[in-house]
Amino acid sequence: MVEDDIRARIKTVTMNGRQMPYAQATVPIMAPGLNYAAAVFEGIRAYWNASASQLYIFRLDEHLKRLAFSMRMLRFDPMPAVAELGDQIVADIRANGYREDTYIRLNAFVDEWGEMTTQGPVSTTIVTRPRPRAPGFTTGQNFCVSSWRRLSDNASPPRSKSTANYLNGRLAGLEAKTNNYHGAIILTERGTVAEGPGGCIFIVRGGRLITPGVTSGILESVTRETLLNLALEDGIASAERDIDRTELYIADEVFYCGTGHEITPIVSVDRMAVGAGTPGPLTRALQKRYDDLVRGHSNAHGEWLRPVY
Ligand SMILES: Cc1ncc(COP(=O)(O)O)c(C=O)c1O
Repeated sequence: MVEDDIRARIKTVTMNGRQMPYAQATVPIMAPGLNYAAAVFEGIRAYWNASASQLYIFRLDEHLKRLAFSMRMLRFDPMPAVAELGDQIVADIRANGYREDTYIRLNAFVDEWGEMTTQGPVSTTIVTRPRPRAPGFTTGQNFCVSSWRRLSDNASPPRSKSTANYLNGRLAGLEAKTNNYHGAIILTERGTVAEGPGGCIFIVRGGRLITPGVTSGILESVTRETLLNLALEDGIASAERDIDRTELYIADEVFYCGTGHEITPIVSVDRMAVGAGTPGPLTRALQKRYDDLVRGHSNAHGEWLRPVY
């Protein structure tokens, strides 16, 4: 399904709690959210369970909590109540009537007119749209190590999901695209692995899952935390520690994870095959475990699923 087809299927979006056609949800050209990146967001997924005829939003509360933190970092005033935003997301999906995998984009930004430090008024927007699984989930993808370095906590904190941080990701993503890679791995200023433009990195060495710690210039990813939880439950050894660049080349498996990318196998780094150059067994097993969980096929973690219908 191409992007234009998807866009044509959006019947309504939600702005400041009101449902309206996409074309009516506009931002003034002097809004600080546009001019000074006074904007934060969340990307959230909902998964269709055909046998239950139900759509489940995955870990909505955790995404809303992170949005609240991101708004606090930018000192938004007043801050919209995030529980209401959760209800608006459910209402927006219902109004669109999606009965398939869905992506939710939730934005909060300083609206109208102002300066760099203007703190309000804060507007919120919700766009929900069908989002089928990307082919890379099955085939795997080829990544490079970017020549750009990851921004840091004392410059533009990656822990907050601020629109501004995506300049760093965009530069790395454009470099990867120009050089015919599917994606990029960005290193910290110290030269250890941080994350990709839109997801976290895991490697597998000797059956052990390894991912950089939360002080490595990463977004505190909901998917990453989910996978660490599942590993613990399943008795898979895991570690949060620095990863050197050369560990990417020696690893048995590497994968990329996040709401948008789900669990995407990385089958080569800098044109060097990872393992056998195909998605590895632990990556495959985690994909299955994750898919069963998010669709409500397993009975585990019902508290992470918010039914829409
Ligand atoms: C920079 C970055 N890191 C990590 C992630 C993964 O976070 P999550 O699993 O919460 O979606 C994302 C995507 O949302 C991201 O944009």
